[in-house]
Amino acid sequence: MSKRKIAIIGAGHTGATLAFIVAERALADVVLLDQPHNEKPAKGKALDISESGPILNFNSKIKGTSDYQDITGADIVVITAGAARKPGMSRDDLIQINEGVMAQVTDGIKTYAPDSTIIVLTNPVDAMTYAVYKLSGFPKNRVLGQSGVLDTARYRTFVSEVLNVAQTDVTGLVLGGHGDTMVPLLSTTTVGGVPLTELLEQEKIDAIIDRTRKGGAEIVGLLGNGSAYYAPAAAIYEMAAAILKDEKRLLPSITYLEGEYGFNDICLGVPTILGENGVEQVVETTLNDDEKAQLQASADAVEEVKKALKNK
Ligand code: APR
Repeated sequence: MSKRKIAIIGAGHTGATLAFIVAERALADVVLLDQPHNEKPAKGKALDISESGPILNFNSKIKGTSDYQDITGADIVVITAGAARKPGMSRDDLIQINEGVMAQVTDGIKTYAPDSTIIVLTNPVDAMTYAVYKLSGFPKNRVLGQSGVLDTARYRTFVSEVLNVAQTDVTGLVLGGHGDTMVPLLSTTTVGGVPLTELLEQEKIDAIIDRTRKGGAEIVGLLGNGSAYYAPAAAIYEMAAAILKDEKRLLPSITYLEGEYGFNDICLGVPTILGENGVEQVVETTLNDDEKAQLQASADAVEEVKKALKNK
């Protein structure tokens, strides 16, 4: 197999962290692209990561650029480009600014990496995935968004903290929109196969779920400037690896729905099988009435955000 290539659009905190993980784990060569006025920092980060190779024992090539030609041949393009919300900016302003960024980036991808699979991270991620899907004209299996892997990882971390068990032994599934309306499926949560409900009283589980819903805000509050990027980058890495290595992982992704779970014309987080063809299948698991209602509320919230999109 020829060497694989991942292009990362947006060489900010998440983009650069992802580049480092991908290189360090020798998953693929990396192109780190930012706007022309940020080309030098993109090149600087790429060079800095390359220079860790002799020490960490990897040979992946990392290139910083602002030229879309450099993404030619990318198997996967990750979109982390976008603006963060600034004081005085309304939520709708942010949506439209980032929709503009998605349009520009998608143009570049269509021209230079028309056969790639796109993974979107830019927030509000459900609506941005929808925008990229519509703008790209790519088949739905080749446009997906990241939220559930990160939300699930936060949930697993908090469960492990409370129980004092290894975080890797905690399994679970978080569905729905990213943020306050996410839907953790309690029935899927186990620790080494033992149901969480047998290990922890409901009150403590509820507190964990609440903390998971506010997981992004907790980091924002602690950082004081900017939002989370280590775990988001790790989440993207896991999805990209599943696709490039054709692992058939069952991971939550944001994908375009046509009837699954009763939803249509919306991009929403659901369990999926990820392999060489991107989203190879949406897995429909049985939800109880409460989970169904929560998923509906989550879809309603995503529809609300979608209304601010110019292109829908
Ligand atoms: N083309 C290319 N790059 C762009 C564009 C564009 N049109 N617009 C902005 N960028 C770049 C910025 O120059 C910046 O380097 O995107 C990068 C974003 O990086 P950060 O501001 O550090 O943001 P980060 O913390 O990485 O978050 C990126 O992921 O989790 C989400 O909410 C988060 O939407 C945000 C995104």
